[in-house]
Amino acid sequence: MAVAQNNLEQATLWQRKDLAPMDKYEFRQWVELLEKRTGISLPEKRKSFLLASLNIRMRELGYEKYQDYFRHLLAGRSGAVEWEILVDRLTVHETRFFRDEAAMKMLEECYLNHLAPSETALGINIWSVGCATGEEPYSLAMFVDRTLTERNISHYLAVTASDISSASLATGRTAIYHSNRLKNLPDVYRQTYFKVIDEDHFEVDASLRERVCFTRLNLLDLAEATLGMMDIIFCQNVLIYFKRQQRRRILDQLVEHLRPGGILVLGAGEVTDWQPDELENLGHPGILAFRRREPGGCNT
Ligand SMILES: C[S@@+](CC[C@H](N)C(=O)[O-])C[C@H]1O[C@@H](n2cnc3c(N)ncnc32)[C@H](O)[C@@H]1O
Repeated sequence: MAVAQNNLEQATLWQRKDLAPMDKYEFRQWVELLEKRTGISLPEKRKSFLLASLNIRMRELGYEKYQDYFRHLLAGRSGAVEWEILVDRLTVHETRFFRDEAAMKMLEECYLNHLAPSETALGINIWSVGCATGEEPYSLAMFVDRTLTERNISHYLAVTASDISSASLATGRTAIYHSNRLKNLPDVYRQTYFKVIDEDHFEVDASLRERVCFTRLNLLDLAEATLGMMDIIFCQNVLIYFKRQQRRRILDQLVEHLRPGGILVLGAGEVTDWQPDELENLGHPGILAFRRREPGGCNT
């Protein structure tokens, strides 16, 4: 997040300076490249953001012309490495701990409260899709762990945190956050799951960290993803950047990874006209969440 924030600040600064002009044809080329490789659709109104981000990166590398930089990105291995850096600059990584607390509470009511203790530890698989710098997957891990511990349910949590941005994933893996980033976090979570590094920094405790696995995954490559079945999938504030058809394709693929009885949580209002037969909309006000129906079972 610190990196993304930095990029944003730099981009804002650049907007005030003269940027190399980009004609319609060139803009189209960049939009198509971004959409083909990430699914993200960049509207005309975000052209100044694209220009600012490209200009910062081109200046770092010594390029003056968009076309030269474009050619570099298409050139074999060095282009692929550079693309990883640029994609981080062109994606939005805004996130925070407990960003959607209402959705967590819904998860408790509709899912966690219905789990029964068993003789062996209960395995729970969670997937944070588009996890950015890790605040969402760590929040889910903390919340589920605490809720089940309070209910004396012995459990084994495995959280998969995926994103296209390698830089964001690296921050998540480091698991060290500035104290400002912990402002939203209820005290009990900070005390239980964080270790103080210095007066400004906290580190996620190893016991929680080892439950969260960060992995690079482009949502356009979901069909080839070797992920298992999940009990809970969170995909919030990601699909807004995709076109309608692409969103629906991704959602259909997410459902294939959801266990019967499992819960899929999306950002409220992010998807309006998608209701596959296998899913029941939980109908919580202000929350867009679905449960996968049990085959032939009684669905509440
Ligand atoms: C705004 S953040 C959302 C973070 C978190 N889910 C939340 O709600 O706080 C969006 C994330 O989606 C990721 N993203 C964008 N396009 C992607 C793609 N094609 N595949 C995987 N992740 C993508 C971005 O890198 C970014 O980290």
